[in-house]
Amino acid sequence: MAYSAKIGPSILSSDLSCLGSECVRMMECGADYLHLDVMDGHFVPNLTFGHPMVECLRKSVGQDPFFDMHMMVSRPEQWVKPMAAAGANQYTFHIESTTNPGNLIKEIKESGMKVGLAIKPGTTVEELAPWANQIDMALVMTVEPGFGGQKFMEDMMPKVSWLRSQFPSLDIEVDGGVGPDTIHKCAEAGANMIVSGSAVIGSDDPRSVISLLRTVVAEAIQKRSLDR
Ligand code: DX5
Ligand code: ZN
Repeated sequence: MAYSAKIGPSILSSDLSCLGSECVRMMECGADYLHLDVMDGHFVPNLTFGHPMVECLRKSVGQDPFFDMHMMVSRPEQWVKPMAAAGANQYTFHIESTTNPGNLIKEIKESGMKVGLAIKPGTTVEELAPWANQIDMALVMTVEPGFGGQKFMEDMMPKVSWLRSQFPSLDIEVDGGVGPDTIHKCAEAGANMIVSGSAVIGSDDPRSVISLLRTVVAEAIQKRSLDR
């Protein structure tokens, strides 16, 4: 089995004035990677931060933490090189935001980053499928992108199941409303990279939440491999 359970806290819901120490805290609590939400106020109705912030964060947290950049922006082509230079590890863009995914995938790879491809709730998984063999990760959004703390959309799970059946070794990420109450659905469907914002950051005990999420996903992966 090529993929494993990985938990990536979304720091969107943390105290943004302490982003560096919040990232360090999440890594110390057992996070496998950090999911950084970039919003431009155009592709989504909210605004966060860009590559200058990522550059500062990289300096502050060191080389080790893996930065998965969730690019909720209208012209993702524009930020590939700046994000690579700032220390991003993976560039996850939305298929809805570009007319030429193939070229963007190529540019991201050439810049030395991994490639993530995201779909919004209204986008079918068939639109992502033609690119699945060229990317490192597929992100199935389980809320409308833009804000943390929204309700998990269980009706996105058939997309995850279908992707898992078609691409058995692909990293599949879910993002939005994922926490202890919803992780079982995600794990059963076949997601292995789990973004969790408010459920982890808002908890008094983030370490236990991260550990619980990882255990549920790891058990589902093991079960799937035994069933094969
Ligand atoms: C929403 C972002 C998510 C968000 C997740 O557009 O992409 O990463 O921070 O937060 P929760 O887990 O609270 O839904
Ligand atoms: Zn996100």
